[in-house]
Amino acid sequence: MPTLTFQECTVECTPDETVLDALNRQGLEVPSSCRNGVCQTCLMHATEGNPPRTAQQGLKETLVAQGYFLACMCKPTESLTLCLPDDSVVQKVRARVIYKEYLNADILRLRLLPCGAFTYRAGQFVQIHRPNGLIRSYSIASVPTLDPLIELHVRLLPNGSMTTWIHKEVGEGDYVELSGAKGDCFYLQGNTTRNILLIGTGSGLAPLWGIVRSALYAGHKGEIHLYHGSWKPEGLYLEAELHALARDYPQFRYYPCVDDGAEAHHQQGRADKIALAQHKNLSGWQVYLCGHPEMVKSTKRNAFLAGANLPDIYADPFILSAPPK
Ligand SMILES: Cc1cc2nc3c(=O)[nH]c(=O)nc-3n(C[C@H](O)[C@H](O)[C@H](O)COP(=O)(O)OP(=O)(O)OC[C@H]3O[C@@H](n4cnc5c(N)ncnc54)[C@H](O)[C@@H]3O)c2cc1C
Ligand code: FES
Repeated sequence: MPTLTFQECTVECTPDETVLDALNRQGLEVPSSCRNGVCQTCLMHATEGNPPRTAQQGLKETLVAQGYFLACMCKPTESLTLCLPDDSVVQKVRARVIYKEYLNADILRLRLLPCGAFTYRAGQFVQIHRPNGLIRSYSIASVPTLDPLIELHVRLLPNGSMTTWIHKEVGEGDYVELSGAKGDCFYLQGNTTRNILLIGTGSGLAPLWGIVRSALYAGHKGEIHLYHGSWKPEGLYLEAELHALARDYPQFRYYPCVDDGAEAHHQQGRADKIALAQHKNLSGWQVYLCGHPEMVKSTKRNAFLAGANLPDIYADPFILSAPPK
């Protein structure tokens, strides 16, 4: 059985355990959130031994080459000596809350001023660290070259630990800890003629709002179609701003989609279904999918079946955090 050496402790990892589970079982703290290979909160460094390649998916090649891996995805095949990444690998900054505004009944726009340099691209995600150790991911709606503040859209979940804290306790003028930015869901400069399809549900609009504005202000000439889905009309937000953007940029189209109670200016039904019914051939398109994990998973498959290349499909499922085992 492989052994894990971490913080002067040695732990045996059973065949069905991940590195994260084995370390947690011994009471060893490793930052984690989704426990599903998405948020990269559980990034660790193997200073001796080789982590399996399956535990390195989604990481930059420079990190892979140095032996970094995701502890929640790692079932080791050999013994490993481990440490947590240092600040040169994970960018961390304190940020001041400048502005809080409700975009609809559940979704809060949070604008943050980082106290130091913090590089990101619109559509990537950051982690917010609550002082009690809780860490959660939020996608970035702002565009660094346009917006002086980092903008996040945080949806309140019933009994959600982080979202209740952010909505009810964090005030303007307070400071929060941020780390990141991570993920490859951002506008790629360089090819301004490709068509782009973006589909988001709920607060999954946040990264798409950033990506659309990045593309338009970079002079993108190909068509850009954004479908935002909500169960009820009141779950939509930024409708006026998106309609205004569509008026200013003829290559941009915005489709608010509502399952139940659609009004005349809405499309009736699920955003993913409507989008793929209206775009049957996605060969050569770039596709961005954000929000509900089931929607993201099924639409990724359907976009591929409609002709999109897998490397051209950028997907951020907003996976909720699993409790530690
Ligand atoms: C890449 C990525 C990007 C994301 N971007 C965004 C974004 O831009 N905006 C956004 O709003 N969210 C985003 N999320 C989701 C976000 O990270 C959090 O998961 C979400 O805000 C909930 O956090 P929380 O701590 O409030 O809820 P948690 O405390 O983690 O709870 C989640 C849900 O589970 C329920 N629950 C908790 N404990 C139990 C239990 N014991 N039994 C049963 N139910 C339970 C809660 O009631 C709640 O509804 C993103 C996630 C990922 C992975
Ligand atoms: S990637 Fe491991 S906790 Fe999210």
